[in-house]
Amino acid sequence: MSADDRNGDSADRNTSFDTAECLPYLFSQTSDRSGLAVQTIHISRAGGPEVLQGIICPQPQPGPGELLLRVSYAGVNRHDCNQRASARHPNITLPANIPGLEVAGEVMACGPGVENFRPGDSVCALIDGGGYAEMCLADAALTLPWPTDELRTGAALPEGLFTAWYNLIELARLRPGERLLIHGGTSGVGLIATQLAVMGGAEVWSTCGNEEKRALSASFGAARTFNYRAPDFLPALQEAVGNGMDVILDLSGLCYFNSNPKLAADGGRIIYLSSSSGEPVPLNGAALMTRQVWITASRLRQLPREHKARLAAALTGAHWLDLSAIRLHIDSEYPLAEAARAHERMESGGHAGKILLAVSEPVQFHQ
Ligand SMILES: NC(=O)c1ccc[n+]([C@@H]2O[C@H](COP(=O)([O-])OP(=O)(O)OC[C@H]3O[C@@H](n4cnc5c(N)ncnc54)[C@H](OP(=O)(O)O)[C@@H]3O)[C@@H](O)[C@H]2O)c1
Repeated sequence: MSADDRNGDSADRNTSFDTAECLPYLFSQTSDRSGLAVQTIHISRAGGPEVLQGIICPQPQPGPGELLLRVSYAGVNRHDCNQRASARHPNITLPANIPGLEVAGEVMACGPGVENFRPGDSVCALIDGGGYAEMCLADAALTLPWPTDELRTGAALPEGLFTAWYNLIELARLRPGERLLIHGGTSGVGLIATQLAVMGGAEVWSTCGNEEKRALSASFGAARTFNYRAPDFLPALQEAVGNGMDVILDLSGLCYFNSNPKLAADGGRIIYLSSSSGEPVPLNGAALMTRQVWITASRLRQLPREHKARLAAALTGAHWLDLSAIRLHIDSEYPLAEAARAHERMESGGHAGKILLAVSEPVQFHQ
């Protein structure tokens, strides 16, 4: 594996996999796996959820600093749907195009140089693809201890926690007493970002797509919530913000690109984490300059591995952040073999919080 690949710089390469070492999976054939040990879901080609198919791959071997995990649950992220639709993949070192950026499970083996974990430990981990599987590799530096009886929620934590920490604490430098607006308050990232900000002493406002989601966002700590489908949504929000929000975390795409500066305080910080449609947006430079706002955008997966390791050390070492107090809202759970249904659920937009794949039960693929 090259340093570039580990750093996520291989993201979005559209290289074909050599899946010669993997076998299409039929449940009726499982009695003899012929040394191919790990049941996974891979992206067979670009397309809809139906292109997610079972495949058996060789058991991965942990290298220096790596852990081999037996996956109990894998988190489903919007990124996985985008990866499937385009068949682009984050990690060409995997034996197939296997999605999955976060998992919880048990350490089966430790690679050379791993000192802080041992086999049998219960953990959750931020990974660079490969989570839709019975087993996967994790970087020990991006792995967090997690209680055995909480593995279901552990798989809902890493992507949202690392993303929220990096953007709110490291980039935006959100401070106690400041006001944060989150577009997409009940997304997986949004609910974790809400709690992180409230624990740090900030006040959170959120936008949500219906009244139930507003109530959910409020129950996770948002002081004020707005329904973005209400007819007078933007004027009402603009009036309510008064002198403006100190930080705006936009998880919705770029649809508020020219509205956000008007919602920001002088010197406010605006962060974009989603380009949704991918369409270019017109830039109203005057609005930016009038408020002297600071705009950034980031993609967690493409941060260098060392940077992600520093985030892990910072968030586990923060005296004010109690990881065990973070509530994870699970929208729905599907068996690994039904990953396509999980993607359908995410793409329906009806979900709130996290969608999970349960891997702990024996896998029964139907093809
Ligand atoms: N760049 C990064 O490093 C990074 C990391 C993680 C996630 N992300 C991105 O962050 C977003 C959240 O991730 P996720 O996995 O939790 O996906 P998700 O659950 O699908 O979140 C999408 C969110 O966008 C909201 N939204 C859509 N249209 C909106 C509008 N017009 N106004 C306000 N909100 C709107 C949705 O709100 P409703 O459900 O209320 O309609 C939903 O909360 C995704 O776009 C994902 O790609 C980026």
